[in-house]
Amino acid sequence: MTFDATLLLSPRASSADEGAIIRMSQKTRDLRAKGHDIVALTIGEPDFATPENIRNAAKQALDEGFTHYAPVAGIPELREAIAEKLQAENGLDYQAANVVLANGTKQAINNAVLSLIGPGDEAIVLAPYWVSYEGSVKLAGGKCVAVHSSVAENYKPPIERIAAAITPATKLIFLNSPANPSGAVWSRAELEALAVEVRKHPRLMVLSDEIYEYILFDGEMVSFGSLPGMLERTITLNGFSKGFAMTGWRLGYAAGPLPVAQAMGRMQSIISAGANMFVQKAAVAALKGPRGEVERMRATYQRRRDMVLASLRAIKGVAIGPIPGTFYAFPDVSAFLGKRVGNHVIDTTDQLCDWLLEVHGLTLVPGTAFAAPGSIRLSFAASEADIEKAMARLRAALAQLAG
Ligand SMILES: Cc1ncc(COP(=O)(O)O)c(C=O)c1O
Repeated sequence: MTFDATLLLSPRASSADEGAIIRMSQKTRDLRAKGHDIVALTIGEPDFATPENIRNAAKQALDEGFTHYAPVAGIPELREAIAEKLQAENGLDYQAANVVLANGTKQAINNAVLSLIGPGDEAIVLAPYWVSYEGSVKLAGGKCVAVHSSVAENYKPPIERIAAAITPATKLIFLNSPANPSGAVWSRAELEALAVEVRKHPRLMVLSDEIYEYILFDGEMVSFGSLPGMLERTITLNGFSKGFAMTGWRLGYAAGPLPVAQAMGRMQSIISAGANMFVQKAAVAALKGPRGEVERMRATYQRRRDMVLASLRAIKGVAIGPIPGTFYAFPDVSAFLGKRVGNHVIDTTDQLCDWLLEVHGLTLVPGTAFAAPGSIRLSFAASEADIEKAMARLRAALAQLAG
């Protein structure tokens, strides 16, 4: 009998999906390797260098010997700086002991989910949502329950729809404002209405992913945990990847009530021990240093947001709402589905994105990756020249479908 390692894979490994973003990125690389001219608005990653003061702080930390294991929950200096930031900027009354660092916000989310969710537990995700949430919940053995909303609702479901999805098994609601992929931002009034619902359910917590907080164009950043009585009911997630352009540095954090923080520390200990030591020193500089670069990047995204919105609004049949935050646009293109090109019909946004890539040299992400199959995601964390080229290709392609 021959050995087949696939037969040894655990159910968790077998059910983990690498996702459409990675698949589209790979296809783009393959086509580029064959010499095709492709514009990719695929990846949610700032196209800016990490600000100089942060890079210098990392170099200094390396030279000073901060190259050993860090304490599991993070270095006290950074946990304190984060608690101060959360108090001063977000109105969240956390202490250093409530904060647990991780190698990326993604890992912080996994620490939080593994701390609360087990077999039989449910977590509510608000579609369109960032796919990784589902991956984390599945990894923990739990089940995701999706609550859908449309572009006409600005991708924020009415609270009654969320309330209707809560069962005795619901332990977590994922909230992401500003949101990937929709760019939606929840207002204080909307969050207060959600808090009213949370108060009715004593076993329920909200996981508030605030990683895009510095990429905000309109409205106000409100942290869910700052609402009356909600600090104890919230795990606040944030990190350095987006606002400080530090995706490759891998540093994020979760803050929550002490028993949850301690459990998240245990998860962090089992999975990787303390997060990268010299990156934590650099993160202190990020939080305490000047914010001019962060603001400059935000203002640049805002100009690009205006470009993308104007282009999308000019294409008949595309439905797009406002984009108050993030560097994503998530237009609904369902009006273009079911149309024939040549001798085949484009029925889904997966097929549409494959066609855009193969025929028009444009990589976008199908909405199926975010549980919203009628839409496509464009990332405008890209140069203005690339955005212009991409919008011209999209316009030409959709005109061909409409005609
Ligand atoms: C909503 C959301 N949360 C978390 C993350 C993960 O960030 P990190 O790079 O810190 O792991 C991302 C990255 O794309 C994201 O879009």
